[in-house]
Amino acid sequence: MRLAVWDPDEPFRRWREALVQHAADLKLAVEVIDASAEPEAQADFALVWHPPSDWLSSQLGLRAVFNLGAGVDAVLPQMQRSLPGVPLIRLEDAGMGRQMADYVSEAVLHAWRRMADYAALQRQGRWEPLVLPPRGSFNIGFLGLGQMGFAAAKRVAAMDFPVLACSRSGQARAGFDAPWPIYPLDRLDAFLAQTRVLVVLLPLTAQTRGLLDYAALCHLPKGAHLVNASRGAVLDQDDLLDLLHSGHLASATLDVFTTEPLPQDDPLWRHPRARITPHVAAQTLVGPAAAQVMRKIAAIERGERPGGVVDARLGY
Ligand code: GLV
Repeated sequence: MRLAVWDPDEPFRRWREALVQHAADLKLAVEVIDASAEPEAQADFALVWHPPSDWLSSQLGLRAVFNLGAGVDAVLPQMQRSLPGVPLIRLEDAGMGRQMADYVSEAVLHAWRRMADYAALQRQGRWEPLVLPPRGSFNIGFLGLGQMGFAAAKRVAAMDFPVLACSRSGQARAGFDAPWPIYPLDRLDAFLAQTRVLVVLLPLTAQTRGLLDYAALCHLPKGAHLVNASRGAVLDQDDLLDLLHSGHLASATLDVFTTEPLPQDDPLWRHPRARITPHVAAQTLVGPAAAQVMRKIAAIERGERPGGVVDARLGY
């Protein structure tokens, strides 16, 4: 079978080596091609990250498309337009949950230990110990409880912070042991009112685009912190800036933006209470991702339905 890889972020050679090795372990014969070098070649399976839509729609024999990341917002609309019957399959954790848990726990400790306040004192050369908020009431609210949200919430709960969550259904996914209060999305305001650090790990869908605007974020208590590591367009960046300026939000740790790279003249770069990282919270790891994709291809070959098939109606 032929696999075509389109990934502008990773040298093709790394994907080919990893895929060939895992295919051999599963006794599958594969040919792996670099779609950007051979756009005409037709494949059975495509592995993609931000593929051009004309290439994707020219692939008429695809049995499935694998998204080389957790969020499918960049490829799902193209698939619906040009390959409506072909399953789109996302990575399920594949080593990203642990990275996300690292990123989020650093941001939670940064917020709890008042590091943004200490940075402000340092700029003034002031030596001034600050009182910490009680840990037992420093609620960490996870907006989105998919694989990334669950991994991060579990780590933060293990750090002895009170955890709550908000998900579309108000329930954890099957098989996730999530013994925390979980609000449905239509009770977002009540969830936000209880949250001292808001951790946004929602997929970007028609329902979540622009969800966190000024009115929504005002439900957070004064002095709350925000962490966004899913997609920039879930929140309104201008409203976020206003709330940082007014002090309603004490800090923002941001990995994702409506425009990436974040434009040089964006005021967020220079806001003293914003911390910016370039979409690195949880990166695709070639080895675990290739192993997972090959296992899923083997399952498809056996006539089974693999995990991670995107529900186009829900958008994730
Ligand atoms: C990264 O943003 C991903 O969706 O995996």
